Amino acid sequence: MNIQEKARARASWLPSDQPPPGPRYKSLADQIASAIACGELKAGERLPPQRLLADALEVTVGTITRAYKEAERRGLVEAKVGSGTRVKGKSSDEPKFHHLSRATADSVDLSLSIPIPSPLRERQFSAIMSRLSERPEALHNALEYQSEQGSLEQREQLATWLRGQAINVDPSELLLSIGGQHADFLVLQALVRPGEAVASDALTYPGMIACARQLGLKHLPVSMDREGMRPDALERLCQRQRVRLLYLMPEHNNPTAAQMSEQRRREIVEIARRYDLLILEDGVQFVTRELRGTPFFELAPERAFYIFSVSKILSGGLRFGCLRAPAALIPQLAASLRAQFWSSPGVVGALACEWLASGDADSLISWQNRELSARHALLEKLFDGYDFHAHPCGFHAWLHLPEPWRASDFVEQARLRGVTLVSPEPFCVGSQPAPQAVRICITPPASIEALETGLTRLRELLAEGPRSAAPLV
Ligand SMILES: Cc1ncc(COP(=O)(O)O)c(C=O)c1O
Repeated sequence: MNIQEKARARASWLPSDQPPPGPRYKSLADQIASAIACGELKAGERLPPQRLLADALEVTVGTITRAYKEAERRGLVEAKVGSGTRVKGKSSDEPKFHHLSRATADSVDLSLSIPIPSPLRERQFSAIMSRLSERPEALHNALEYQSEQGSLEQREQLATWLRGQAINVDPSELLLSIGGQHADFLVLQALVRPGEAVASDALTYPGMIACARQLGLKHLPVSMDREGMRPDALERLCQRQRVRLLYLMPEHNNPTAAQMSEQRRREIVEIARRYDLLILEDGVQFVTRELRGTPFFELAPERAFYIFSVSKILSGGLRFGCLRAPAALIPQLAASLRAQFWSSPGVVGALACEWLASGDADSLISWQNRELSARHALLEKLFDGYDFHAHPCGFHAWLHLPEPWRASDFVEQARLRGVTLVSPEPFCVGSQPAPQAVRICITPPASIEALETGLTRLRELLAEGPRSAAPLV
């Protein structure tokens, strides 16, 4: 072993990939920032001693000193005499999502449907911001008030990118939104009256359940199988009750990962036409064009909506998405959007559209897809023999627990072993009992090794079976 190899073996943390261009000390400070942002470096953690890192990276100690000083100047780390340089900030057990995550410093979070953490993402975004700041006209436009539908230029950029993904929308039929959740809410709020009913898969995205509740709508569950909603069950429901809108995730149901065949999409459209239902297709869980079926708006343009968001491919914090709507309904939606927010923010739209149009987004998506393939392969290997369902582009798998496991016990036992999962209840429409199954998200861990740790703990738990912890009296 030479001196570099020895140093690499001993360093507690090393920048994970090629340094970004620019002065080495600055790029190293950027890499420290990215590692903190994606959880690789945790609050309180000590950075490697300067001499060791210098040897490992084959740079001078002076470069490392400058990099640590730069990180300190940015408020990322603090240096204390005698105890080295440590990551500053809030303790890492602070939940990322107050309503969902209960991850702690030692636990592996498999509960959230979020993009795989990547320093590449932060680097790309930083470059996009610089590029935008160098284009005075684009900046000027972004800083103006926008129309309710959003700027035409941004809608055109977005439609061009979406068409490249085989989502053939016209800019005139798009409304820009503050992410997918906003678009879901907007459609329900503008087009379904309190007391009217929406129907969805019996297991569906909790955000839709929340929208229906907030708006005082009836939310009716429809039975599912491995392709998602069953047409016979939908037909029976429509014979009994007036349903105004059908909410679907045909490419990739959250949480069951079900994908709908072309034949089934056509059967659903036929029922929607017969009973005059609106169809809201939520495409936020992103699927690449090769694996995607025909969107509902191509089968029934007069009644189908499509929601796209950048949350699963670029960033959930950017809060940017769009809604494709039938032309006749756009004025009603635009009026509602105007009353709520005036329009989606021009600056956010400019950044998101620039990111998509620049080609950077495509390389980030390709990177994420490659990483997802490796993570799915790991899942297949570790859960071989268990009853689970996953989609190759999906952020999660749906695991049916073997007898006699109950989902609530499994989630609790997993927590005790340091793995955070969500229970199935939030996905259940109405008061139906929750299935003995759990959603396992494979994207939150920063590394595949951390994912392996979490999945291995779950597999061990499955193999051991539940312990009888219940009191007998
Ligand atoms: C099906 C579905 N729709 C909408 C959303 C929310 O998307 P956004 O972050 O763009 O509001 C999510 C987030 O997980 C989702 O899974």
